[in-house]
Amino acid sequence: MIDTQGKVYIVGGGPGDPELLTLKAKRIIESADVVIFADSLVPPQIVEFAKDGAQVIGSSELNLDQIMELELNAVKEGKVVARIQSGDPSIYGAILEQMRILDDAGVEFEIIPGVSAAFAAAAVLKSEFTVPEKSQTVIMTRMEGRVAMPEGEQLKDLAAHGCTMVIFLSITRMTKVVRELTSSGYTEDTPVAVVYRVGWSDELIIRGTLKDIAAKVRAAKITLQALIIVGDAVDPGLDRGGAVSHLYSADYTHRYRKAVSGNGKS
Ligand SMILES: C[S@@+](CC[C@H](N)C(=O)[O-])C[C@H]1O[C@@H](n2cnc3c(N)ncnc32)[C@H](O)[C@@H]1O
Repeated sequence: MIDTQGKVYIVGGGPGDPELLTLKAKRIIESADVVIFADSLVPPQIVEFAKDGAQVIGSSELNLDQIMELELNAVKEGKVVARIQSGDPSIYGAILEQMRILDDAGVEFEIIPGVSAAFAAAAVLKSEFTVPEKSQTVIMTRMEGRVAMPEGEQLKDLAAHGCTMVIFLSITRMTKVVRELTSSGYTEDTPVAVVYRVGWSDELIIRGTLKDIAAKVRAAKITLQALIIVGDAVDPGLDRGGAVSHLYSADYTHRYRKAVSGNGKS
């Protein structure tokens, strides 16, 4: 146990655009004595909010033990540490192992949520991931790589649902992604969007279908920091006059509003 007044904040740094930081994340970065940021995915503009004299460290060349040693040494001195992760820390943030070490050391910590790249991508695509009568489910997943997928979570298993799918960490294996997705669930003409470095100045959107997206990604030479989003939700031709959600429908009664037409559907 460490006897300390220090604290660690695990901060969601958002997808890249500093304006997508939460006010809380910004305040914590401004007040931290030590700022450790995932510099492969979090741009330097985010740590420019650090106060004068703060120690600012990029973590891309550090292993977990080295990062945790920095954090524990800082809190022993009563310092506040901001550990900035990309997007939201709960999605492929590898925070479990950090939290275990902090818990074992008796260090107080708090998680500050952030805007996941998935939601920043939905915004730039002008998409709603949950489309009435098309998809009411979003699966966030990845292609199996060095990390083995648990039973029933291979892409081909998940594809069977045919819903909106957001695939992280898989852009280098596009051909295999497409093969797995088309082996069950999705047809070759299923819309796909690949969003590269959303929120960064070199952001790029590639749209296509499962038939042509792998070739388009290859041609664009994208090999990192991209999301693959699959399903009708990213169909640029999605019928805008199609099915609508009940939520704001005039003939839908709910707790806060009466239906205008009076048929009282609820
Ligand atoms: C280690 S995961 C972190 C995900 C992050 N926690 C989130 O919520 O966005 C890194 C992967 O997230 C995706 N990613 C992260 N930032 C991105 C961005 N700005 N644009 C597109 N994809 C991004 C890519 O698939 C990348 O390989």
